[in-house]
Amino acid sequence: MVAGNWKMNTTVPEGVALARAVLERCGAETAVEVAVLPPFVHLWAVREAIAASRLLLGAQDVYWEESGAFTGEVSPRMIAGLCDLVLVGHSERRHLLGETDEQTGRKFAAARRHGLGVIVAVGETASERDDGSAVAIVDRQLDAVLAAAHRAPSPDDWVVAYEPVWAIGTGRTATPEQAQDVCAHIREHLTALAGASPRVLYGGSVGADNAAELFACPDIDGGLIGGASLKPDVFATIVAAAVTAGAAR
Ligand code: PGA
Repeated sequence: MVAGNWKMNTTVPEGVALARAVLERCGAETAVEVAVLPPFVHLWAVREAIAASRLLLGAQDVYWEESGAFTGEVSPRMIAGLCDLVLVGHSERRHLLGETDEQTGRKFAAARRHGLGVIVAVGETASERDDGSAVAIVDRQLDAVLAAAHRAPSPDDWVVAYEPVWAIGTGRTATPEQAQDVCAHIREHLTALAGASPRVLYGGSVGADNAAELFACPDIDGGLIGGASLKPDVFATIVAAAVTAGAAR
């Protein structure tokens, strides 16, 4: 899977144009799932723009309640039927907006109740990497999701994205070895806890120049792409790298 997280970028018309450009370049892809994650206000228009294509549509976040007095929030009930999947636990939500592991778990459970596929983002900060606790942090974040899920989710229903916080939007990508080590650990950890592991993506400054070597790692099943997902030609190159890596397995 290659998923483009547009973050808080583009107006609705710009987003529709970007979706059309991705559709033109990646819409016929069958070997790799390609997803776009526009801002909430774009979802309806982008759904129409990519209707009847294989592209998946995702939201960047979701709240855990069904409805009620939660000003500004969007419930899974509102996006089920519109989106195929939703991202929860992105580091910008954890670190800029103070979301906890427990809240991420509640979001995961709520999205699953509505049949949405979920991308769960996990990853350590620079200081956590420096003090050797990267893997412990990732485990803690994943365990909170599994605890909220009550029973182990099927590997087809979710995807984990390992995104070291220090590599997001910084141009400082994890080396393939660093990314592979943690992704392999995630797979082992989830297999031990839940009997099976979902796909594991890497995210953090993935671009046209480093996608191929990252996706060639045996435990990296694709990427969660931020900045480069706003450039359709670069995004298409990253998708092509995932197709090549998949074919080589
Ligand atoms: P980046 O963002 O590719 O711009 O580093 C990745 C992400 O935040 O998902």
